[in-house]
Amino acid sequence: MGAVNASSPGLGTSGHIGTNVDEARRILAASRRIVAFTGAGVSAESGIPTFRDAGGLWERVSPEEFGTPWGIADLVRRRPDRLVEVLAELAGVVLEAEPNPAHQTIGALERAGRLAGVVTQNVDDLHERGGTRTIRKLHGDLGRFRCLGCDRTDMRSREALAAIVRGLTATAALTADQLLAAAPRCPSCRALERPDVVLFGEMLPESEVEGARRLLADADCLLVVGTSGSVEPAASFARTVVRGGAPMIEINLAPTDLTPLATVSLFAPAGEILPELVTEG
Ligand code: OAD
Repeated sequence: MGAVNASSPGLGTSGHIGTNVDEARRILAASRRIVAFTGAGVSAESGIPTFRDAGGLWERVSPEEFGTPWGIADLVRRRPDRLVEVLAELAGVVLEAEPNPAHQTIGALERAGRLAGVVTQNVDDLHERGGTRTIRKLHGDLGRFRCLGCDRTDMRSREALAAIVRGLTATAALTADQLLAAAPRCPSCRALERPDVVLFGEMLPESEVEGARRLLADADCLLVVGTSGSVEPAASFARTVVRGGAPMIEINLAPTDLTPLATVSLFAPAGEILPELVTEG
């Protein structure tokens, strides 16, 4: 097991660093059913903040208030303007973001028939826009809305999302009633809708978990990119694949809970190192 640090001088050229990059390249080149398991770090270079890094979302707002259904219900009642402020800022950042070379390299590996799919904890659409076709989104999708009345889900375009944000932010000192009036409604039953993302305390979507398990069961290499691995099932998924005998390559800025499982860990920004690892063929 080896590790490199991007802050070391001469990434990819000194003996130790080069050895690990070479090993990662060799593993990837020999694999035909790679599964990428990704977290917020893969989208960081696209400008979307992560959760647990310095300046990350959970440092700026409390996960208990902004990351749970009961916290959000309470914010709607007591601090609707603050809720809308935070949601509008996040939505603005996600709507502005473009796929970076890490998303694009993962997409290219699938097109080349070497990557079976992506399992992600992210709710943005940057993998899909970076060329990924097969994807399991464990924590839902920010572009999809779910009706609180009939449970129907529907995808909204980026333009429609931007219009929802504009509607919510149009009124200063928003009251709870005004927020509910401007919130999206189900096209079929007119009940309120919510973004179809998983909050703390909620179940992961069963079909996505099952799909992820199927992909991982057949993986001949696990490529873990930009996740702290601190939210389950990240660690148990990685453990299962590694126990099954597949090598694991980890790309992160720093060691994580998953590092002890890795065959090779590369500590460098994903958008810089991933394109370096993939060779033709
Ligand atoms: P975290 O914020 O916990 O971890 C992000 C990881 O990305 C950290 O380990 C960083 O070191 C790493 N990172 C940051 N920038 C990077 C870069 N440019 N290249 C490579 N790595 C980089 O985010 P997740 O692991 O995705 O769930 O968090 C998992 C879940 O916890 C999220 O899906 C979310 C959160 O609470 C829910 O909200 C339910």
